[in-house]
Amino acid sequence: MITNSKPYILTIAILIFLFSIYNYVIYNTEGYVAVGKLSPVAVKGQQIFQSNQCWSCHQLYGLGGYLGPDLTNVYSEDGKGPLYIKAFLNSGVKSMPQFHFSEEEKNALVEYLKQVDETGIYPNYDAKIEATGWVEIIYRNER
Ligand code: HEC
Repeated sequence: MITNSKPYILTIAILIFLFSIYNYVIYNTEGYVAVGKLSPVAVKGQQIFQSNQCWSCHQLYGLGGYLGPDLTNVYSEDGKGPLYIKAFLNSGVKSMPQFHFSEEEKNALVEYLKQVDETGIYPNYDAKIEATGWVEIIYRNER
């Protein structure tokens, strides 16, 4: 049986049109944060992070292994920072191996963790959910 397919095509065309508008609005609304690119040095740090299995014990944004702490904000937390990070790499602790990185490699790792830190806070409970469904996150520099 051959049916008239025109209404279907029209319906699909309308849906595609609405979907396009929806996407346009979502991605052009203030609040949508495009993922920033890491600098070349930070990319090197990321590679070192990956090839040395930091992930197997540490998390970023809660994702990773759970033997060690989350490192999302280790760069900017009170009492921590670049020297603190390097100290852990230099000496290791009971449950974290000592790494023998060059100064350049340590700086690259620190730069990676610095740029990760700049992307936000984890966990961030300073968020409000608006009626539209948007989650408005309050960043550190807005407090
Ligand atoms: C075998 C598991 C393991 C691996 C692999 C590992 N770590 Fe750790 N790391 C730990 C543990 C456990 C701690 C917590 C030690 C403590 O506080 O006593 C820690 C602590 C740290 C800290 C201090 C965090 C804080 O908030 O106090 C930093 C920074 C760190 N590690 C970075 C790294 C980096 C970078 C790598 C990869 C080059 C790495 N770790 C690999 C287990 C690991």
